[in-house]
Amino acid sequence: MGIMNSLRGIMKPSASLSSSSNSSCKSKASCQVHVACQIETMQSTSNLSAISTQRPSYRFEHGRRYHDIEDSVYVLPNDDPEIDRLHQQHWVLHHAFDGNFSSPVHKLLEEGAVVLDSCCGPATWTLDMAKAYDRSEFYGIDISPVFPEDIKPANTHFQLANITNRLPFPDNHFDFIHQRLLIFGLTRSDWTKAIDELLRVLKPGGWIEFKELELNLENTGTMTTKLKESMITMTTTRDMNPTIGRELRLLLIQRGLLNIQAKRISVPVNHDGKIGELFWDNYKQMSLALAPVISGSLPLDFPQFLDSCAKECAKEKTNWGWHVVYAQKPVSPIRFSH
Ligand SMILES: C[S@@+](CC[C@H](N)C(=O)[O-])C[C@H]1O[C@@H](n2cnc3c(N)ncnc32)[C@H](O)[C@@H]1O
Repeated sequence: MGIMNSLRGIMKPSASLSSSSNSSCKSKASCQVHVACQIETMQSTSNLSAISTQRPSYRFEHGRRYHDIEDSVYVLPNDDPEIDRLHQQHWVLHHAFDGNFSSPVHKLLEEGAVVLDSCCGPATWTLDMAKAYDRSEFYGIDISPVFPEDIKPANTHFQLANITNRLPFPDNHFDFIHQRLLIFGLTRSDWTKAIDELLRVLKPGGWIEFKELELNLENTGTMTTKLKESMITMTTTRDMNPTIGRELRLLLIQRGLLNIQAKRISVPVNHDGKIGELFWDNYKQMSLALAPVISGSLPLDFPQFLDSCAKECAKEKTNWGWHVVYAQKPVSPIRFSH
């Protein structure tokens, strides 16, 4: 998919939010200007080298496109509607978390760092960061080639890779590693393998940061309870971890990481103004994307059921928990105590 298309999909008009953080988006107007500038910069610094040679095949179900990779349990689609959802989600999360990252790496990035965006998807985070920190080099990996391949900023590099296998990078290579939203992509044992592999490629003294959502929404009515429980059941029956967001801190402690910080935020779902509307939209689109694997236990008219959940969330003032966890790799060799 071309970057021009992906950038056009970045912000639905409704997704424009003010922001005061480590990127240059300070208001709706400046956010739009920021995206326009990003497009201009990409045109002038485009790097036309094609990166990936292996083309994974796709599987089509219920009108959606999915990866067809045997050794991945990832259940979300990789088609245009999902890419649009991920683009919009990036800007909503940027607003909710007040920036693109929480680790103390701003100065390092300004001076010039080597950064990995693990499981980058359509690379909205990677591209936003590459624009903000043009002295740093950004590497994105994913199992699906949904990242830009032809037209992209010169300080970005993308390739196909599976984080449950050995990554195509040397030991101690990255200053900062970012990974967001793998709750629907890794089994419990995959998480162990993936974290160990990410720590192998992280430099001693480097920072690693994870962002994950909770499935157990708070203050839910009868129908929304059914919906969230169907997602939790779907993950547990596939040996995924529905509470990974809460457990990441412990996984990092067990690996001897330092300066571990974990923060949980609670966001409104379909109440409390624009932000609530956007998080409901994200939750609804995510539910539709998961329909082939969750709707079996839910009413037949799934879109209509979701409309009822929307009303319920507004009435009950439903909230959604999100976690950010970050830590530093020790300079002395890492010890594993798990
Ligand atoms: C929910 S999306 C999030 C994408 C991106 N991190 C973001 O926040 O917009 C999860 C991404 O992880 C990728 N993925 C899932 N399992 C993976 C694996 N084992 N190795 C590499 N990428 C994986 C999927 O293809 C998808 O693009």
